[in-house]
Amino acid sequence: MSEIVLPEVELNIYSPKEPTEITVVENYVCTKESSPNFVRHVTFDVSGTELEGRVRIGQSIGILPPGEDERGRPHKLRLYSVSSPTNGEGGKSNLVSTTVKRTIEELDGKLYTGVCSNYLADLKPGDKVKATGPSGKRFLLPENPRNFNYVFFATGTGIAPFRGMIMELLESDYDGHIALVFGAAYRTDLIYPDYFMETEKENENFHYIAKISREDRRPDGSKHYVQTAIDDNKEQLHPILEQENTLIYICGLKGMEKGIYQNLAKNGFPEYLVLKGDFENIDPAEWDWDEMTRNVKPGDRTFEEVY
Ligand code: FAD
Ligand code: A2P
Repeated sequence: MSEIVLPEVELNIYSPKEPTEITVVENYVCTKESSPNFVRHVTFDVSGTELEGRVRIGQSIGILPPGEDERGRPHKLRLYSVSSPTNGEGGKSNLVSTTVKRTIEELDGKLYTGVCSNYLADLKPGDKVKATGPSGKRFLLPENPRNFNYVFFATGTGIAPFRGMIMELLESDYDGHIALVFGAAYRTDLIYPDYFMETEKENENFHYIAKISREDRRPDGSKHYVQTAIDDNKEQLHPILEQENTLIYICGLKGMEKGIYQNLAKNGFPEYLVLKGDFENIDPAEWDWDEMTRNVKPGDRTFEEVY
């Protein structure tokens, strides 16, 4: 198996104290039908800044929303994963995209809207934004990406880095296998569905598996989640997972990784994990969810970014 070498990346060229300014060039809904999830594809022109050509897919940029919090302090930085390939959106090195979901919460009958995601979602072409970054040095494609197969697991906006990674891989004469497992509540919440479905039609080596949690149930009554694909989509996933040059990437909701780890182990793929304590001897079906945090870690072939 090829050695996994991650590229050297530049970090925090711009900090919250010394941010740069980037300009919105497009901002559009990237679900097929209107969805109460309100996810948007936002592209920035970074021309004239040090970010141009220096943001890698898998990294994030920071956004500083204007205004102050309830204590009168400037709003803090929020991170957003880059969803354009390393060579830029549409191959233009001055264009960097992200994928933003409006956050909304109702508590005791009062509606709270997230500061930065709603700020970004409201922006129009021409608007200027204070940005930092890039950040992140581990959730990256390896330096020799064509030597590997990939299984990508995403929930929600965790799809962002995989859009760019898949574009980058398939544009590079890639002949390995890629499976993308994406979890969403309803079919209307699928993000970039047209791109992934078209890409699957055009590339025999790309497999798109959507897991929809709230429309129907599995035979045992449980929800269809990304991790249930390891049980239910064996034909597509197992031949890839069995290869020693396959890497797993997990991005999205914090907590999603545990279900994936458990199902990997249950299905005979512990090599993607590091098991501590006596976890090696306990039947994965019996793993204690709290104890897992301490005793099950991603192995060298597993990368995760959960938030
Ligand atoms: P905040 O204002 O920070 O609020 C957070 C939540 O709390 C919201 O749901 C809000 O409605 C609720 N809330 C606010 N005030 C109250 C209150 N008083 N009572 C109850 N609830 C309240 N997000 C993306 O959309 N796309 C990405 O690609 C992405 N990538 C990320 C990558 C990384 C590495 C990390 C760490 C995070 C990423 N995020 C991404 C998440 C993002 O950074 C923000 O956390 C997210 O957009 C919410 O920020 P916000 O300012 O909109 O919400
Ligand atoms: P559900 O909310 O029906 O339980 P969202 O974009 O709304 O944040 O969520 C994306 C998807 O991730 C939803 O289908 C959601 O299911 C699912 N999900 C929630 N918790 C987990 C988890 N722990 N592991 C995997 N998927 C999850």
